[in-house]
Amino acid sequence: ALQLTLAVIKPDAVAHPLMLEALHQIILDNQFVIVRRKDVVWRRQESEKFYAEHSGRFFYQRLVEYMSSGPMRAYILAREDAIGHWRELMGPTKVFRARYTSPTSLRAQFGLTDTRNTTHGSDSVESARREMTFFFPDFRPEEWMERE
Ligand code: CMP
Repeated sequence: ALQLTLAVIKPDAVAHPLMLEALHQIILDNQFVIVRRKDVVWRRQESEKFYAEHSGRFFYQRLVEYMSSGPMRAYILAREDAIGHWRELMGPTKVFRARYTSPTSLRAQFGLTDTRNTTHGSDSVESARREMTFFFPDFRPEEWMERE
């Protein structure tokens, strides 16, 4: 079915103009329609809130600091199976696993560490809904999506 997802190009990738351009081009080359796009810098507080589900994990502090360390680019993307397709393009969260199992994935090619892993993508319809409104508070997912 036609779906929406939230995709984020994280601070390490935005800091490199060629990497940012390459990732943007990959979005276009994969038949995603860019519904919204925004460059943002998070305060620490927004980073903590977005990743609250990871608050007990050993990597939480470094994740929160990293995601508030500089500009990011967020997109709302539409496509057939947008959530799964973007996640497949990204590859596994952990960079060394990505390099081993999916060497052409974005994280394998561009990721630096398990934390600085280049991109984010929603993992379900529910989290896409939450994450789209987190980044784009005036976006109304219910005007785009049928009830599932
Ligand atoms: P993301 O898809 O944005 O969701 C949670 C983030 O936490 C993940 O990408 C990584 O940036 C980070 N993360 C997840 N697992 C680890 C890990 N084992 N070590 C360090 N960072 C991690």
